[in-house]
Amino acid sequence: MLELSGLSKHFGGVKAVDELDLTVNEGEIVGLIGPNGSGKSTTINLICGVFGETAGTVRFRGELMNGKPPHQRLRAGLARTFQNIRLFPNLTVWQNLWVAQNSPQDVSARGFLPRWFGATRRTRREIADLLDLADLGHKDDELASNLAFGEQRRLEFARAAATRPRLLLLDEPAAGMNQQEIADLSRRIHRVRDSGVTILLVEHVMELVMGVTEQIAVLNFGRKIAFGTPGEVQRDKAVQEAYLGASDPGDGSA
Ligand SMILES: Nc1ncnc2c1ncn2[C@@H]1O[C@H](COP(=O)(O)OP(=O)(O)OP(=O)(O)O)[C@@H](O)[C@H]1O
Ligand SMILES: [Mg+2]
Repeated sequence: MLELSGLSKHFGGVKAVDELDLTVNEGEIVGLIGPNGSGKSTTINLICGVFGETAGTVRFRGELMNGKPPHQRLRAGLARTFQNIRLFPNLTVWQNLWVAQNSPQDVSARGFLPRWFGATRRTRREIADLLDLADLGHKDDELASNLAFGEQRRLEFARAAATRPRLLLLDEPAAGMNQQEIADLSRRIHRVRDSGVTILLVEHVMELVMGVTEQIAVLNFGRKIAFGTPGEVQRDKAVQEAYLGASDPGDGSA
């Protein structure tokens, strides 16, 4: 599904991502963890095409993504959420999902007008499913800016799912969540995966990462220092040292 090879991003002298090799297979939930500033968000931005790489390649479903702008990668099936929530604040919950559902579509393609008016049965059914996924069915007409923090996070997750991605990149979706919300998120991630979506999860909340992923890559100063199952990674000496030597992420989760 995804193959990063020798992927690097340098900001001046800072090697934010440095010669990263990573393979994510179809249907997997893979974790990407590491101390603050270790290059996790930069990796997501490289995969999505927000940043151009300094070196290396991004292959998605066998196709070279280098040089392709973000909207083309979205159209190819790459979706993401942001570490800091970025919704359309002045659109309703339903409209946020509708825009996302239609954003990967080619506007010149047939059927645009019915989609535009939100009139097709498929459009409505899919959005109803997404509202159910996000547990926001009762708030469909609410402006996104009026939602509580947890609701905004759920909407962002559903909005990414609305683009019908093949690979979903999640950047710290559990930040600021309580125990119950983390458990709900874990179920939501599984539900999306079971619908045929591969997932790369960047997260500091170890309870979520260790519970939901099958494989985990660990970054430190932009370099991959470990890859394995949650158990293998937890027992890894280099990983333990990276976390002990790093500043605490501030939520007590490391
Ligand atoms: N646009 C940028 N310009 C310059 N330096 C950057 C930029 N984006 C990130 N960096 C630097 O690259 C390094 C990796 O940052 P990145 O945001 O990828 O880390 P992260 O692993 O996501 O951290 P966190 O857990 O705090 O979100 C850091 O040293 C950061 O300061
Ligand atoms: Mg980050």
